Amino acid sequence: MLSQAHRDIVRDTVPLLETGGEVLTTHFYAMMLREYPEVRPLFNQAHQANGDQPRALANAVLMYARNIERLDQLGGLVSTIVNKHVALQILPEHYPIVGKCLLRAIEEVLGKEVATPAVIAAWAAAYGQLADILMGVEEQAYQEKADTPGGWRGARSFRLERRVVESAEISSLYFVPVDGDPVLRHQPGQYLGLKLLINGQEHRRNYSLSAMADGVRYRISVKREPGGVVSNFLHDDLAIGGVVEVFPPSGEFVLAPGDKPVALISAGVGITPTLAMLEAALQTSRPVYFIHCARSRAAQAFAPWLQSLAAQHKQLRCFYRYEDEDGRLDDAALADWLPRERNLDAYFLGPKGFMAAVQTSLRALGVPQEQCRYEFFGPAAALH
Ligand SMILES: Cc1cc2nc3c(=O)[nH]c(=O)nc-3n(C[C@H](O)[C@H](O)[C@H](O)COP(=O)(O)OP(=O)(O)OC[C@H]3O[C@@H](n4cnc5c(N)ncnc54)[C@H](O)[C@@H]3O)c2cc1C
Ligand code: HEM
Repeated sequence: MLSQAHRDIVRDTVPLLETGGEVLTTHFYAMMLREYPEVRPLFNQAHQANGDQPRALANAVLMYARNIERLDQLGGLVSTIVNKHVALQILPEHYPIVGKCLLRAIEEVLGKEVATPAVIAAWAAAYGQLADILMGVEEQAYQEKADTPGGWRGARSFRLERRVVESAEISSLYFVPVDGDPVLRHQPGQYLGLKLLINGQEHRRNYSLSAMADGVRYRISVKREPGGVVSNFLHDDLAIGGVVEVFPPSGEFVLAPGDKPVALISAGVGITPTLAMLEAALQTSRPVYFIHCARSRAAQAFAPWLQSLAAQHKQLRCFYRYEDEDGRLDDAALADWLPRERNLDAYFLGPKGFMAAVQTSLRALGVPQEQCRYEFFGPAAALH
């Protein structure tokens, strides 16, 4: 139970977290991944190596400590964490491992003089409270997904039905459930969790669903990542008929209902969730502005399909920017392509620098901030 004395101590730790949070969480992950091999496959090692995941956790712990008196302020953070956890099947039995390692990391990084037994007790109580919140919301999400038609809980076996080359780097993979039953109809923009065994090693990854729900199959579209374990396996090694384990669709970067014009702005493989959103938006009468940036025409995926959609739907306007011909997307192009009436819903995804630039441009163009939504293909980070 978290007492007022505990809360005071946690709040007093905020300055330490502001300066040393990442050192703490980096130490924490190194220890946990070394000593608890059972949780290793849950984590993407690339996100450890580039520091994104320790940074995301440090930011979350800091936000929590800052808001320890008013947890209702945490809303957005909790839902981002829960969606990611649910897509990767984080379960209650994992929480004590994280708790134990976090407390040890606090003690080892801050030293026993700062991390006194009172500080450790306060953080133990605070962690317990946060873990209870997350486990509660996660259980609710697991149950909801199991109760939805076509839904399930945990891993379900899917086999690869077909693979389609979309560009030099991106291929689409169509998966159907081995049991032949219907599949949960995902919201446009959501992603799956995949669990694969590659050379005897388990790996988990998220992939956005790149087509609208049909209740029968799922399509993902994967970019070959140089040196990447899972993307190369999906491109080269998974045979047609091969089976992977899939966790139910998750994610909150979804097309919100409404009648405002929709701007879908992507770069590279960031196009994937916007394809499902595009299909869904075209089922309404909303005008759609589909803006896509690629390194070159050869690197652009889905071009013929987009062309045929644009020919069929007057409400759709497609704009492309090729870096090798016109440089990167800029304010002038966006101002020219977007409608003069800026009261629109914007969704954007691509590399971090691209998203930061798009966010700044949309702001400058007067698109209301609360109508600009984005997601990261990795742990969330600040866009500046
Ligand atoms: C919500 C979400 C949706 C996503 N949707 C898509 C999608 O639609 N399409 C898509 O293609 N991707 C998507 N991704 C990204 C995807 O999950 C994978 O991260 C991506 O496919 C790379 O995985 P990999 O196993 O091939 O590469 P990894 O093995 O994870 O490697 C990635 C890079 O890091 C380097 N690396 C790995 N380990 C280390 C290390 N220890 N030290 C230093 N460098 C290292 C590798 O050499 C490589 O360059 C999404 C991610 C998220 C979170
Ligand atoms: C109070 C406890 C916890 C907090 C505050 C927390 C916080 C976070 C945050 C902030 C992210 C990044 C979300 C995003 O931006 O996408 C994340 C992702 C993740 N969390 Fe947790 N988490 C907690 C417990 C756990 C537990 C118990 C596990 C399992 C051992 C776990 C495993 C993961 C994994 C695997 C990811 C994705 C990492 C990646 O992309 O490499 N978390 N968590």
